[in-house]
Formats: sequence, C-alpha cells, structure tokens
Amino acid sequence: MVSLKENLRIVADAEALTRTAATVFVDCAQKAIEQRGSCAVALSGGTTPQALYALLARDHEPFRRRVPWAQMHFFWGDERMVPPEHPDSNYGMAYRTLLSKVPVPPANVHRFKPEEAEPHSAARAYEQVLSRYFPLVDAQWPRFDLVLLGMGVDGHTASLFPGSAALYERNRLAVANWVVQLASYRLTLTLPAFNHAATVVFLVSGKDKAPALRAVMAGTGPPERLPAQLIRPTRGALLWLVDRAAAHLLPGL
Ligand code: 6PG
Repeated sequence: MVSLKENLRIVADAEALTRTAATVFVDCAQKAIEQRGSCAVALSGGTTPQALYALLARDHEPFRRRVPWAQMHFFWGDERMVPPEHPDSNYGMAYRTLLSKVPVPPANVHRFKPEEAEPHSAARAYEQVLSRYFPLVDAQWPRFDLVLLGMGVDGHTASLFPGSAALYERNRLAVANWVVQLASYRLTLTLPAFNHAATVVFLVSGKDKAPALRAVMAGTGPPERLPAQLIRPTRGALLWLVDRAAAHLLPGL
C-alpha cells in the first residue's frame, strides 16, 4: 500500500494540533460556502477533537466569528448505541462542547438516532438522512466538505475496527458494525462514504498513538488490521495532523 507520509503534518503538541485543526476547519467552511452556499462536516467522537470543538466555540478567539454558522451542516462519522444525553454519545459531546454554544440552526444538525431503533434500522435511517441532504440518487456517494477523524491505539477510525465486517462494505453509506473488541454495535459511515469526501483530516495526539501511527505510515501489513490506513479520498484531500508525541516513533524524526 502506498505510504501516507506525504499527507502528514507534524505539529509541536496538542495545543498546536487544536489550533491548526481550527484553521483547517474555518478554511474548509469558508471555501465550501463560497462555492456552494453551505458546508457539510462529519464530526468524530473521542477525546482528541473536544479541544477543537471548544476552541471553535470560544468567544475571544478569531475562529468562531469566521465561521458562517447558519450555513454549516453537521453530521457524524460514527455513533455509539446510547441516547444523546448519555456521556458516551458522540453527538452529546459535540453538543456540549460546540453546537450548544454557536448559532447553528437545529435543522442543520443531522445526528444518528440510536435511541429510536435497533442498530441496523438506525443505520438505515441515517442513510436516508444522508440521501435526502446531499441529495443522492442510485449509486451515488455523499461528498462531505470536511470529515474529521481520530485513530485509536489499535488503528481503528470512526467505528471501523480491525477485522470488523464494515471494512468490507462497498455499497452502503452507513452500517451497524458489530465490534467484537467492545462486544457491542457501533453505527458508522463506511469506507466509500468517507473516501468520497472533499477533505479528510485525522487528528492524532499523544504518545500512546505512536506505534499505530508508525504502522499506518509504513503501509505494511494487512490493511484490515489498521482500518485508518484505508481512508484514502478518491478525489479529495487527506491530512494527517499529528503532534510530536504521536509522531515520535516515525523513522527519520
Ligand atoms: C469514537 C470515535 C473513534 C475515535 C478514536 C480516537 O466514537 O470513539 O469516533 O474512532 O476517533 O477512538 O479517539 P481519541 O481521540 O479519544 O483517542
């Protein structure tokens, strides 16, 4: 598999990662809105993006006022099977840190609804949400302006876990993915849905991510063991934004 190193940008620390990601977010938003009048972003869960969401919402920072919030549309790359008010909800995290603090119209927030159905139906319902928004006809894919992703220490991204069935999905936009490692279902967009985005940005911070990052950048080994390796936009930009701690095992650094 071709190395992802040319897509790598290493910054000093978590703070620099957050500020760089905020700049990328604002630039993507402005460009999409200039070109099409709106911007569709797929958010990630996990801990790393929380600082970014908080920074985007902060009053005395320049980012908040540079984002045309009324034209922003928010989606999620993955979700846990919990209600929105649950501490593990990816929507809930984004709501608390960002969406409750900025003037995004509620109609522009397009979340998975795990509380309304069993996992497979919840995934199908989200495919309908995507099909209506973009809008899609047969065999078309959504084109997110920006997808934010993280990477777990095992190389998973969104809820595409090593060895899980969703990695082999070629036709669906979103699926319920049984994750053996967690003994539970997760709702996730699929690889082709991510790979049709205009821009995909990974945020990776901390030394615990270093072994997985080294393996992903080396591009050796079976890709289904490191799902993050399979994110390669077909007609879009890919950025691996990582801090020094996460990058410290990369050869040549
Ligand atoms: C989730 C995520 C997941 C996350 C990684 C990295 O719902 O948990 O979308 O893929 O991005 O696990 O998480 P951290 O940022 O917490 O390391």
